[in-house]
Amino acid sequence: MKKLLSVVVVLGLACTTSINAEEVNSGGVESLRGTATLDATKKAEEMKRVIKDKNPIARNYVHQPPMIPHQIRGYKVDLNSNKCLTCHGWKYAAETGATKVSMTHFETRDGKTLSDISPRRYFCSQCHVTQADAKPLVENTFEPVESLGND
Ligand code: HEC
Ligand code: HEC
Repeated sequence: MKKLLSVVVVLGLACTTSINAEEVNSGGVESLRGTATLDATKKAEEMKRVIKDKNPIARNYVHQPPMIPHQIRGYKVDLNSNKCLTCHGWKYAAETGATKVSMTHFETRDGKTLSDISPRRYFCSQCHVTQADAKPLVENTFEPVESLGND
């Protein structure tokens, strides 16, 4: 038993060392950070400029969280308050002109409909992001769905 244990420990150690070695050297494979080695800190990308108050960008596929067509700087969402809901909540939507959060935002993950926003849809920016003129990170052949208003 003791012998088996020490074999396991030695094997474990061998594995960790080889993983560490790989982490430092990318082996020439280029990732989204370029060819920087994994232990080097690369300069952060410039922040994207948020496109201010434009018409919403058409959705690309069914079930896509729509992009946010306005600035959200300073809009706080925490345990005590949710700035987004002061316009997008059903109570305020008519008066503010904001789109109401849809029914799915009241559903729990096991399909129950709550009388207020579901905890899994409370932190809006987990899914919704502001619009920015950003190039695709990798070349791709994705085509948006035509029936959702894309030409
Ligand atoms: C002061 C009111 C106000 C606040 C606060 C606000 N919004 Fe909005 N939002 C609007 C209005 C008005 C529109 C509609 C604009 C339009 O259609 O041109 C809108 C549009 C949107 C849309 C697009 C909806 C669609 O139909 O495509 C999303 C998504 C959105 N907001 C998310 C958010 C999130 C997330 C927050 C919080 C970080 C937030 N909003 C805070 C007023 C607000
Ligand atoms: C877990 C992801 C997720 C979170 C968190 C989330 N949403 Fe959404 N939202 C979606 C998706 C997906 C859609 C489009 C399909 C749908 O309605 O479910 C959507 C749609 C919307 C729409 C458009 C509704 C319509 O009828 O066209 C608004 C407005 C919106 N969300 C606002 C919010 C606000 C405000 C919050 C925070 C209180 C929030 N969302 C949190 C995923 C999310």
